[in-house]
Amino acid sequence: MPATRLLDTPADAAAVLRRGGLVVLPTETVYGLAADATDAEAVARVFEAKGRPSDNPLIVHLATVDAVARVALVTPLGARLLDVFAPGPLTLVLPSRGTLPPAVTTGLDTVAVRIPALDLTRDVIRRTGVPLVAPSANRSGRPSPTTWAAALADLEGRVDAVLRGEPARVGLESSVVDATGDTAVLLRPGGVSLEALQEVDPGARALAAGAAGGDRSPGLRHRHYAPRARVRLLTTLAEAAPGPDALFVGLEAPPPGYGHVEVPPDIETYAHRLFALFREADAAGFARIDALGVAEAGLGRALMDRLRRAAEA
Ligand code: TXA
Ligand code: MG
Repeated sequence: MPATRLLDTPADAAAVLRRGGLVVLPTETVYGLAADATDAEAVARVFEAKGRPSDNPLIVHLATVDAVARVALVTPLGARLLDVFAPGPLTLVLPSRGTLPPAVTTGLDTVAVRIPALDLTRDVIRRTGVPLVAPSANRSGRPSPTTWAAALADLEGRVDAVLRGEPARVGLESSVVDATGDTAVLLRPGGVSLEALQEVDPGARALAAGAAGGDRSPGLRHRHYAPRARVRLLTTLAEAAPGPDALFVGLEAPPPGYGHVEVPPDIETYAHRLFALFREADAAGFARIDALGVAEAGLGRALMDRLRRAAEA
């Protein structure tokens, strides 16, 4: 593949996508690796570029709520959730119409759909004129990129182009919600909180951690979100172990002696910084990241999910 091009306009990005190319795109959650979802060859190249296991299905990104019905059967629950949360950091798993190449859904009878909140992303989709698959634009097993430069660091020479946009506002991926039935099941906590889902569907529940969720959300089976530095998830500051080769991040200040300290002012900033911090820690050669946990509420649930996965990896 020729060198990866750096692009600055949605029109240029759409032109590459229409030719079956792979383009890194900004979204409000994290940067995505986009391709024409109707083009089986382009979809195959997405799996190849990421080194993604072929049994982990992709999210289909659309510009409008109306477009969802062309790829999925919109359940009554799905319609209500789209009404409230689209466009936004929510991915709905719905019964598939089977209109897209099987590789997109890895042969499942469901399809994951999302309408991104970032205007630029929807502009690219509209100009391309087809739904776009867009997994996070990292090599498989690496943290999701929250800047175009982080995506380029992972995928340079493996993708056709990178559309340079703003750093991702949320910094964690979308919430993945199974809306095939009568009650919402949160398969991956993300930018839309369980509490917000429960305002629409009081019965909404999170898939219990470690439950046999592998069946419902294939991505949960795979190793994820891991920096090279070892991540320790601290329950209290008493577990802090300062050292020059260790980085600390948490909502309270740690004891002195860490090589680098970040105390974000709130959970939103913590979430926004987490994946960038993982990459910066690796670039600076830190051996360990001590991350102080947060309350499991609101965006804190998604943040704790990513911290736990990073600590387990
Ligand atoms: O915020 C996001 O969702 C970002 C941006 C780029 O939109 N995309 C993203 O994609 O995080 P990816 O591929 O890294 O994660 C997609 C998740 C995986 O855990 C996958 O297993 C799950 O969605 N998924 C996709 N299709 C599914 C389906 N039919 N049923 C259950 N889970 C599905
Ligand atoms: Mg991913």
